[in-house]
Amino acid sequence: MADIVNIDQAEAWDGPEGEHWALHHERFDATISPHHGVLITAAAFAPGERVLDIGCGNGLSSRDAARAVGPSGSVLGVDLSGPMLAVAAQLAEEEGLDNVRFEQGDAQVQSFEPGAYDLVISRFGVMFFLDPVAAFTNIASALRPGGRAAFLVWQSVAANEWVSAMRDALAVGRDLPVPPPGAPSPFGLADVDFTRGVLTEAGFTDISFAESAPPWRLGSDADDAYGFVTGLRVIKMMLEDLDDSLRAQALDNIRATAAAHETPDGVYFGSAAWVINARKP
Ligand SMILES: C[S@@+](CC[C@H](N)C(=O)[O-])C[C@H]1O[C@@H](n2cnc3c(N)ncnc32)[C@H](O)[C@@H]1O
Repeated sequence: MADIVNIDQAEAWDGPEGEHWALHHERFDATISPHHGVLITAAAFAPGERVLDIGCGNGLSSRDAARAVGPSGSVLGVDLSGPMLAVAAQLAEEEGLDNVRFEQGDAQVQSFEPGAYDLVISRFGVMFFLDPVAAFTNIASALRPGGRAAFLVWQSVAANEWVSAMRDALAVGRDLPVPPPGAPSPFGLADVDFTRGVLTEAGFTDISFAESAPPWRLGSDADDAYGFVTGLRVIKMMLEDLDDSLRAQALDNIRATAAAHETPDGVYFGSAAWVINARKP
């Protein structure tokens, strides 16, 4: 692997968090699917295009891009996570896709072929950079002049009931801090003004934000949702500092929160993402 500057992220994604996502790839893809469709529409792939997928993880967006651009096009998926890239490559092979390949690396510093791509996409993979301007400048360098970007990122914690409700459950008397705009986290690009500034500084233009806010199905019932949610890093981090008794109380609260959102159809919470479109001049 080339240089890594996002060391904490690499430790998580090329370690336990990546293994968790790789193991549960079907579950994650099913859960994310309402947002996924919005990204695919925003990407507006055309046959023959060369696509770069940043933080591709288990690679569904890369494989969908590969199908859309067809045999005359190509896709490169880049990610920090060895375990997730192994799933991505295996599924691409099983699906008979030979116009997609995957590379392990840190998109902030990975050396991309300059101007080699028509389109860069990301499904929730670009919010974790220590230096977002450096990262998006590097990503922009891979686009040809006139090339496009379509990124899916989470809106704020407050706009995402799936995490704000869980934070309330996990607080157990604490005042849990909300990460500031730009800090590496799922919500690192939630602030529109901050993100527009980052992308502008990185050389993008025609930057627009559209909302994707479908109800989010976190499980088939409360037990199922509890198991899924308590495996997420964003939740595990909020459990870390608690003693045994507060931890047990927090976990009980999560179970009760999941139960309160149970419907005959599954456990649903509100969710909200931005679909960002931009262009390289
Ligand atoms: C929330 S997951 C999303 C994965 C996948 N795109 C999906 O939607 O299933 C975030 C992904 O971004 C990747 N990632 C985070 N920081 C990265 C970086 N600096 N360079 C490359 N990938 C990164 C992680 O390894 C992880 O696979």
